[in-house]
Amino acid sequence: MRATGTTPDRSADGWTAIVLAAGRGTRMRSRTPKVLHAVAGRPMLHLVLDALAAAGFDRRVIVAADADDDVAEAGRSHATIAVQDAPLGTGHAVLAAREAVGSAERVLIVNGDLPLLTPGALATLADAHCAERAVLSFLTVEVDDPTGYGRIVRDGEGDRIAGIVEEADTDEQTRAIPEVNAGVYTAEAAWLWSALEALAPAPNGEIYLTDAVRTAVSSGCRVRAQRLADATEAQQVNTRAELAAADTAMRDRIRESLMANGVTLVGLETIYVDAGVEVGEDTTLLPGTHLMGDTVVGRECEIGPNAVLRDMRVGDRCTIGGSTLEGSTVADGVDIGAYCRVRPGSVIEADVHLGTYAEVKASRIGARTQIGHFSYTGDADVGEDVNIGAGAITANYDGTSKHRTEIGDGAFIGSDTMMIAPVRVGAGARTAAGAVVTHDVPDGAQVIGAPARIRDAEGDTTESRQREEQ
Ligand code: UD1
Ligand code: CA
Repeated sequence: MRATGTTPDRSADGWTAIVLAAGRGTRMRSRTPKVLHAVAGRPMLHLVLDALAAAGFDRRVIVAADADDDVAEAGRSHATIAVQDAPLGTGHAVLAAREAVGSAERVLIVNGDLPLLTPGALATLADAHCAERAVLSFLTVEVDDPTGYGRIVRDGEGDRIAGIVEEADTDEQTRAIPEVNAGVYTAEAAWLWSALEALAPAPNGEIYLTDAVRTAVSSGCRVRAQRLADATEAQQVNTRAELAAADTAMRDRIRESLMANGVTLVGLETIYVDAGVEVGEDTTLLPGTHLMGDTVVGRECEIGPNAVLRDMRVGDRCTIGGSTLEGSTVADGVDIGAYCRVRPGSVIEADVHLGTYAEVKASRIGARTQIGHFSYTGDADVGEDVNIGAGAITANYDGTSKHRTEIGDGAFIGSDTMMIAPVRVGAGARTAAGAVVTHDVPDGAQVIGAPARIRDAEGDTTESRQREEQ
């Protein structure tokens, strides 16, 4: 996940990252664990893990509520899973990671509900922590509405940190403090374990990680608070409204980055691009375009208006009108739609033209082939330079199983042809309009009728010649 050659592995410097993800997320009112809710199409947990990886935290631990729950499942391939068996607070959650952290010298701790954190902020916090030999560091941010956050209390003289006060424990004066705890910390591990073990539970019975700040201050340890310049990085997600706010902020950020990378966006706010999608230079995204999931679009394409692409690979110089494409590959110079549907497992080769209402499923469409009008091509292997007429259908399903259709290079499929699979239409073969092809058609042959019969050079079908010969 880490961009190779850009960031050194921080575990060499003694770092392990801990993601707190064992909370019950009750404020979401959801059966799905909070950190698995998606922001810009990607689970928050994965966005946090991506940021950690990009900042060089190669050793990662996720604190989950259960070794076999959905959070553990989603995180297992990216991190070691530690289990906090009861949700007794963020400090308690960090202690649950102790064994998995092992002998690491220092830890970076991040709340799992911070999808907008950037690798830059994490890297800066960790670098300054070491450079200034801090024992405990954390990110703070100034927000317009601090409701729900821990407030940063500084003492009167200078700007010295005094502690973090959680919302429930604020008085009128602390409640008004606009500087809040972002939920990201770095700490020397040996100090942290003993500090957390010594913490008394808060009135609600939870052990607050944030109380460790007061411990550090009172014992004269070096504590650093680092202010985030961009408040959106600290957008947490406790509720569905905050989920929507995080999604909006992330999508704004993605649009900015696309434009910075040379992509034209027309009707900015109507274009939705998921996190992780890549788009090449000089591509234009027209209003109502949605690029979702694991999608990569090449250079100099024009997508939309109203196109929906999910899990797609699209080459260069393609034009894709208002169509829905999913789980497939489209090569260079392809022209699709409007109103096409390309379903998963399809490979559309270079310079293909798919016109209005063409549906393609699990099929290869060879280079330069034209399917100009409404039609269904399913489970088919279509060669190069084929022309498929309006209304042509591969009848791939016999009520029990799916069967394949093969169409050779240069074949001409007349309008309204039914190809009853399994069947092969040979290279250079032609089917007449309305043909119902029930048997293989040899290369270069012409067929006509229902069921289709071979027509010879004089224009007779096999059947009429047999009749005359009798
Ligand atoms: C926390 C901070 C608060 C800060 C805010 C920033 C504490 C006590 N408070 O509050 O100062 O301003 O984040 O977003 O830390 N979790 C566990 N086990 C638990 C409880 C929580 O793993 O027992 C996890 C949650 O899954 C979540 C993260 O810790 O990912 C933070 O918990 P959350 O309940 O969201 O804390 P806040 O109340 O938002
Ligand atoms: Ca939170």
